[in-house]
Amino acid sequence: LYEAMKYSLSSGGKRLRPVLLLSCCDFAGGNVLEALPYAAAIEYIHTYSLIHDDLPCMDDDDFRRGKPSNHKVFGEAMAILAGDGLLSLAVQIMAQRSIHDHEAILAMNDIIEGAGAFGMVSGQAMDIMTERAQAGYSIECIDKAKTGALIKAACLAGARFSSFSEEEIGFVSDFADNLGIAFQITDDILDVIGNTELLGKNTGSDEKNEKETYVTYYGLSGAQKKAEESIDKALYSLSLLNKNTDTIKQLTLDVLKRNH
Ligand code: IPE
Ligand code: IPE
Ligand code: MG
Ligand code: MG
Ligand code: MG
Repeated sequence: LYEAMKYSLSSGGKRLRPVLLLSCCDFAGGNVLEALPYAAAIEYIHTYSLIHDDLPCMDDDDFRRGKPSNHKVFGEAMAILAGDGLLSLAVQIMAQRSIHDHEAILAMNDIIEGAGAFGMVSGQAMDIMTERAQAGYSIECIDKAKTGALIKAACLAGARFSSFSEEEIGFVSDFADNLGIAFQITDDILDVIGNTELLGKNTGSDEKNEKETYVTYYGLSGAQKKAEESIDKALYSLSLLNKNTDTIKQLTLDVLKRNH
């Protein structure tokens, strides 16, 4: 079990969510060391979501982070348990540090809400229901939950460790909403035109599973345009904060030209 958990965690990945959490904490004037366990926890949760996402009953993908998917190495049962283990461990890491700290409890709540049945898990459920059937959910609604919710949670949780006002937290939230949309749009585009080696996962997964994506809705150039619009909106929200957001601004721009 522990080997399976470690396998997917240490296979690489961009670490986008922890970087976002720590960057938001940093520009908001928070203590990055205090936020560090929450950055680890959100990567544990993201990694569990990828292990489960690749299972044969979900996207049935054999390659992830440049290696065979977890279930290809450890079997389906152990992959499910590795995901369960990572999720529980993430909660434990956060709970242990949140006992005496109100801000930390808010950060933990952001992360668990973003991960759970009203966040990422609900998005994955809508995504699965929409495969091969018109379930009636818009692509915006699915992606806001399946990918946007955890990205938003990362940004909000990071900002919790600062003395940001509710208004400033609102700007962070708007920023993250738009970044999350752009991130999933570029994921959908890369599934069509990306390079398997660079991505570390197989392309063509969405077509194979008859998924509805930004590309099936808007076409490649339409999807790219939507991503650009979302990035513009995200940058506008950042500019309202009047902080030194150079690092996260660059990261946001990089989403548009990412190849992995
Ligand atoms: C892939 O996420 C799944 C989505 C939510 C789009 P990433 O592209 O961040 O995957 P890693 O962490 O770099 O492997
Ligand atoms: C998955 O979206 C989002 C998750 C919550 C894991 P995808 O199914 O498009 O992610 P990839 O392309 O397999 O990484
Ligand atoms: Mg999926
Ligand atoms: Mg997938
Ligand atoms: Mg994808």
